[in-house]
Amino acid sequence: MLRVLLTVLVSSAAFAETIGLDELDLARMTAGWGQPRANRSVQDQLIRIAGQGYDRGAGTHAHSVLYVALDGAATAITGAAGIDDEVDGALASVRFRVLGDGKVLWDSGVRKANDPAVPFEIDLRGVRTLVLIADPAGDGVSFDHADWADVRIAYEGARPEATDPPREAPYILTPPAPREPRINGPRVFGVRPGSPFLFTIPATGDRPMTFAAEGLPDGLTLEAATGRITGTLPAPSEHRVTLHAKNALGEATRDFRIVAGDTIALTPPMGWNSWYCYFDSVTDEMMRAAADAMVASGMINHGYAYVNIDDGWSVRPGARRKSVSGEERDAAGKINANNKFPDMRALTDYIHSLGLKAGIYTSPGPTTCAGYAGAYQHEERDAARFAEWGFDFLKYDWCSYGAIAPDPTPEELKAPYLTMRRALDAQPRDIVYNLCQYGMGNVWEWGADVGGNCWRTTGDLGIATDLFSNIVNYGFFHHDKAWWNRPGHYNDPDYLLIGHIGWRGELRPTPLTPNEQYFYISLWALLAAPFIFSGDISRLDDFTLSLLTNDEVLEVDQDPLCRAAAPAMRGDLVEAWAKDMEDGSKAVGLFNLDEIEREVRVTWADLGVTGSRRVRDLWRQRDLGSFDRDFTGRVPRHGVVLVRVFPEEK
Ligand code: GLA
Repeated sequence: MLRVLLTVLVSSAAFAETIGLDELDLARMTAGWGQPRANRSVQDQLIRIAGQGYDRGAGTHAHSVLYVALDGAATAITGAAGIDDEVDGALASVRFRVLGDGKVLWDSGVRKANDPAVPFEIDLRGVRTLVLIADPAGDGVSFDHADWADVRIAYEGARPEATDPPREAPYILTPPAPREPRINGPRVFGVRPGSPFLFTIPATGDRPMTFAAEGLPDGLTLEAATGRITGTLPAPSEHRVTLHAKNALGEATRDFRIVAGDTIALTPPMGWNSWYCYFDSVTDEMMRAAADAMVASGMINHGYAYVNIDDGWSVRPGARRKSVSGEERDAAGKINANNKFPDMRALTDYIHSLGLKAGIYTSPGPTTCAGYAGAYQHEERDAARFAEWGFDFLKYDWCSYGAIAPDPTPEELKAPYLTMRRALDAQPRDIVYNLCQYGMGNVWEWGADVGGNCWRTTGDLGIATDLFSNIVNYGFFHHDKAWWNRPGHYNDPDYLLIGHIGWRGELRPTPLTPNEQYFYISLWALLAAPFIFSGDISRLDDFTLSLLTNDEVLEVDQDPLCRAAAPAMRGDLVEAWAKDMEDGSKAVGLFNLDEIEREVRVTWADLGVTGSRRVRDLWRQRDLGSFDRDFTGRVPRHGVVLVRVFPEEK
């Protein structure tokens, strides 16, 4: 039947030719698992749907998207779609759609395993951009082996070509910070009694600016010209302070809480990490330049504080390169930095002199992931060394500990993290403790018990052309983990990979579209995730900087309740995630995973609120009005609308 239709269509077109989907460049087709294949299923078998075999077509896996460029002179696309029999009756569900120039031309509805293939024959005249989508039909991608069987495009003009998704020009929503003073950043800061205190009041506005504070406890002093608060607090205590920032144009005040107690990092850490920019070629000069850039770019005025060295600072056992070879430890057993870091103490002094904090990295195993000396069996000495060097943050990365505990029991997963926790507790300074073991053993359930301030929940986001899928998977993976987030303890879905990021030696623009970047930053803020940028901080374009420094968005991340968002509405390629804020408002992200603009609606019932509510657009920093029952945003492809829903002021 299909062949008859095709013949009729093709013969009715003057000089029509046909091209099979299998003849297009399927490397451009994305897949949620495995890789798309020409004329085979995703598991490399004959394409077979409900017992019917097909010699031609493409086998893929939801979520899968292919863009095809036409010139308006294609006439039709024909074929059939369904779930491959290789899933053997499993609970697969896929919806196939064909889009033309942003409109849905065909929708298969939800297809299950063993459903017969659905044939289609679609008029393409005038269409310039064709998109083939196999999406997970709202229930996740498990078993979603999707076949496009015997798909052919009839055309009269240029040969159809697989192509890239549409390019979007960056667009800045963040309004420029006013010239008058504005105090940004966290509203609460924790320190252990007796530890050195360093907090720089983040404030935007014209310089010179002078700072003052009322209610500052004995033991702390504020430097008026820089806004740096230093000193120590002798005993557990809590202090309500009023901060002031003044310049020629005005004055800002803000309530601020200082808590001396056992818990530090009372809001998610904000900063920069060297990994996705320099990998293990990081040097002392690069770290200094990063610290300088955090000041020069103004990021420090929005609350960014940590400048963190990742892998590559210690000696690499067996290395020939002079920069990383040498003795791993000195005669006293203290770990040495490699030749790229001639004086660690001088480096942290420099970072601190800018009002910033310094971070370091190691592994509980004998070596780090990149093969450098780790802390195994030297934990106490290494913690002492990090404290003596003046570090304020430690990332502790499982890596070669896998050789020590190859098939770890829950206790073995915790053990190395507890050992380092005890070692850090013995140090006379506060060191934020970042567990990194990629989510093993549901780390979110016990990361706080072993004293972690944050814990990576998944593998590396990585530098991949399909970074957006990783962001969706890693971010939306948090749908049931919100509960574990609380002050001082955070799920960590990995770094912010925007701006220019390193592809081993070469820095390239992030593969994410502007809308995908809004999606990413909004989701991380809603998750109350550590806000650690890992792109090139010395080369920040205006758009990237605008994404990192929107104070209303950062306020979502830094809210003192530290709740993580959870899904309030999960629809068909659209989701609404909501986060409780300390003032009783809700931050809500309306996310669109589709290839076309969608309306995304969240109701007050979804949010568990009633009555008239003021809704504010956080990226634009603009009120949108009062809404009684729901809010609907028009959300671009792979984009977000991030709002805050306030109780109506009486
Ligand atoms: C692991 C971590 C990364 C990075 C590298 C360094 O892959 O997950 O974040 O620290 O190691 O080698």
